[in-house]
Amino acid sequence: MKGLILSGGKGTRLYPLTYTSAKQLIPVANKPVLFRVIEAIRDAGISDIGIVVGDTAEEIKRAVGPGKQWNINITYIPQEAPLGLAHAVKISQEFLGDDHFVMFLGDNVIQGGISPLIAQFASSSYNSQIVLTQVDHPQQYGVAQLDDSGQIIKLVEKPKEPPSNLALVGIYMFDAHIFEAVNAIKPSWRGELEITDAIQWLVDRSYNVHAYVHRGWWIDTGKPTDMLEANSLVLEELTPTIEGYVDRDSEVDSRVTVEQGAEIINSVVRGPAIIGKETRLVNAYVGPFTSIYHHCLVENAEISRSIVLEHSQIRNINRRIEDSLIGRHVVVHRSPIRPRAYKFTLGDHSQLGLLGDEGS
Ligand code: DAU
Repeated sequence: MKGLILSGGKGTRLYPLTYTSAKQLIPVANKPVLFRVIEAIRDAGISDIGIVVGDTAEEIKRAVGPGKQWNINITYIPQEAPLGLAHAVKISQEFLGDDHFVMFLGDNVIQGGISPLIAQFASSSYNSQIVLTQVDHPQQYGVAQLDDSGQIIKLVEKPKEPPSNLALVGIYMFDAHIFEAVNAIKPSWRGELEITDAIQWLVDRSYNVHAYVHRGWWIDTGKPTDMLEANSLVLEELTPTIEGYVDRDSEVDSRVTVEQGAEIINSVVRGPAIIGKETRLVNAYVGPFTSIYHHCLVENAEISRSIVLEHSQIRNINRRIEDSLIGRHVVVHRSPIRPRAYKFTLGDHSQLGLLGDEGS
């Protein structure tokens, strides 16, 4: 079996973080979402993986490379524009050949990996297997309608009036019949070749498409709030390790990971949380569900339920920062300008001034 990861697209809902960089490279619990996807496929025993790339191809190639660090082979497949998930399959035909394959969207995070699903598909006579899960807002996804026996009746992409609350998770398994489908369908109202339409094409022609209903959590990290939620869920499952330095005056609880070269000085860290390589905390408080990436500084400041990307600094802030997604090379420091509410989605290289003490 082969793997196909989709890592093109624009990431507009994560602007400004993704103006200049790929959304699939934003870290969740200090590891880029794309790396988590690669590892999930590798852990299912697949060592030949194609990655579909678009405008951010160079950045993705730089970060991922040929796959040696995971002991796999990676082939990059350039897509001229984000013309749809089925278009991405179409242009990958040469790489995929006649093999069965799993397609995984490069911005999806799922609980528990995909090894059992792959094993189930490999030992079945299914032409395709899709993964569904119950969601609160099915309008935002591809949606499936099943009959009482669990057979697929209908699949629709982002319907205004969803026929069920079962969304298509961004993990799909196919045999080579999918190429007949992607070559037969026409672009949708949004101008994309939809994978949902391609699967419907298989269903309509009585190909064996099996729907698996996933019960754990799953997040499509399209928006900042989704990133924070994925971060919290993954942090909860992390096995904590302390590889950096924690001084005697600091208090670091048992659910905290401190990566190599990190220094925690006179600070309190409450888990689940992760402090990245070469990052320094000085007189700081880092609360639960926070990931501080590498080469950051948090000094005389408090932060919780947030993600801070590499090389950023938070200094001398006397209000706690919460529910925030802070980009790369950002500096947040005290400033006398009002108002007093702190809620951020800051772009790369931003600088932000915050208010000082009451009356000062
Ligand atoms: O996340 C699950 C949903 O993913 C499904 O429920 C929908 O049925 C499916 O269409 C898809 O919807 P999204 O609107 O979330 O897809 P998005 O445009 O965000 O693209 C998903 C990933 O695929 C993302 O990493 C970018 C990449 N991509 C996307 C397109 C359209 C490509 O590599 N090439 C493309 O042409």
